[in-house]
Amino acid sequence: MNLEQLNKIANHMTAPGTGILAADESSGTIKKRFDSINVQSTETNRRNWRELLFRTEQAMKDYIGGVILFDETLRQKSDDGTPLVKLIENSDAIPGIKVDTGAKDMAAFAGEKITSGLDGLRDRMQEYYQLGARFAKWRAVIEIDDVRPSNACVIANCHALARYAAICQEAQIVPIVEPEVLMDGGHSIDRCAEVTMAALKTLFMELHTQGVKLEGIVLKPNMAISGKKCAHQAGVEEVAEKTVAVLKASVPAAVPGIAFLSGGQSDLEATAHLNAMNAGFDLPWNLTFSYGRALQAAPLAAWAGSNIAAGQAAFAHRAKMNSLASKGEWNEAMEG
Ligand code: 13P
Repeated sequence: MNLEQLNKIANHMTAPGTGILAADESSGTIKKRFDSINVQSTETNRRNWRELLFRTEQAMKDYIGGVILFDETLRQKSDDGTPLVKLIENSDAIPGIKVDTGAKDMAAFAGEKITSGLDGLRDRMQEYYQLGARFAKWRAVIEIDDVRPSNACVIANCHALARYAAICQEAQIVPIVEPEVLMDGGHSIDRCAEVTMAALKTLFMELHTQGVKLEGIVLKPNMAISGKKCAHQAGVEEVAEKTVAVLKASVPAAVPGIAFLSGGQSDLEATAHLNAMNAGFDLPWNLTFSYGRALQAAPLAAWAGSNIAAGQAAFAHRAKMNSLASKGEWNEAMEG
C-alpha cells in the first residue's frame, strides 16, 4: 500500500472549495428519482442523466473532486463512445465506486440493518481499479429512536466498514467510510448527536483493530440534526455547533477529509449547515460535501428527461454554492 498516494487522493477529493458528487444510486433508488419526473429508468436514460452531470465541464473542474458511481456507470460509454469514467477524469475529478451490496435486515434485531458485500470484495476491487476507480464507498444504515440502535447493530456495521476499508487500502483504493444515522423519526438533535458520537467512536476503534490507516480514508458522516418528525427543529447554528462538537470528540485529526451526506435535508439546509461549520470553527480536517440528493434534486427537476441546458445550469449552481460553503464563504443572498 502506498499511503502517501492514498492521502493525496483523499485530500484532492475534499480540498477546500471541492467536494464529492454522489451519483451512485442503486437501480431501485434511481428509479424512484426518475419516477418523480416521469422518466423511465432505462439504461440509456440513466446514462444520459449522468452524462449530463459529468459534462457540466466548468462546474466539474472547479467544484467536484470525486464522483461516486454505481457499477453500471463505471462500465458505460457516452453517446459519442467516450467512457463516462474518462469524462470525469478529464475534468480532474476522481472516479469512485459504491461497493456495498445494500443494507439487509439483521438477524435477531428486528427493525435494524446490516450492510452486506464483503464476500468476494477483495477480487472485485482488482477489477474496479482496472476500470479506473481510485476510491470506493460503503454505506452503513443506523436506524434511530428511543431504543435503537442496538449495540449489536452499531458494532456489526462498524466492523464491516473497517474490513471493507482494509480491503480497499490493500488494493490502493481510498475507502469512503459512511456510517449513516438516519434523519427519519421524531428524535431530538441531542439524541442524534449521542448516537452519532457512539457510532463514530465504535467505528474508529474497529478501523484501528483492522489495521486501517486513517491518513488514507474519507469519513462520510451524517450531521447532528433533528429527526424529520421532531416538533422542535434545531436551527443552523445549533446543527453546526453540535455536529462539530461530535466530530471533534470522535474523529482523529489524522483523517484528511470529512464529506457529509445530505440525508434528506433540503438543498439550502445542506449548504447552510456546511457553511456554518466552515465559517465558525477551527477544524483539523477538510470539511466538505458528498451530496446525492442535495446536488441532484434541483438539476433533475430542471432536466425532466430532456432539458439538458437547464439541468446543467442547476447542477452548476448547486455545486458552486456547496463549494463556497466548504470554504465558509456562502450566504443565502447568493442563491439568487
Ligand atoms: P444523500 O446526499 O442523498 O444522502 O446521498 C449521499 C450518499 O451517497 C448516501 O450514501
